[in-house]
Amino acid sequence: MTSTSNPKTPIQDAPVHRVLLGKKQILVTENEPLLVQLERAGIPVEYQCREGYCSSCSIKLLRGQVIYPFEPLAWVQSGYLLACCAIVKSDIEIAFFD
Ligand code: FES
Repeated sequence: MTSTSNPKTPIQDAPVHRVLLGKKQILVTENEPLLVQLERAGIPVEYQCREGYCSSCSIKLLRGQVIYPFEPLAWVQSGYLLACCAIVKSDIEIAFFD
């Protein structure tokens, strides 16, 4: 007897969202913070702590929604996100500069 089940990894099951950065567009999941997914796509992001303490990974959020699985200790300026701990929850548009 053969099994017809096809086990899925959590990444396959995660919702996928578009991230627009200038003329670039990448797809991200809700499984990992935005920072690691930008890096994987070859988009360098400034960072120091990678844990929500320093705010050096702050990126302007032009539209869309992110959440934080834990409350970052760094101050998150209105209209910005902390890439190291932000989970993307919708299609978003971001910018590195004002
Ligand atoms: S790298 Fe320090 S808050 Fe993101």
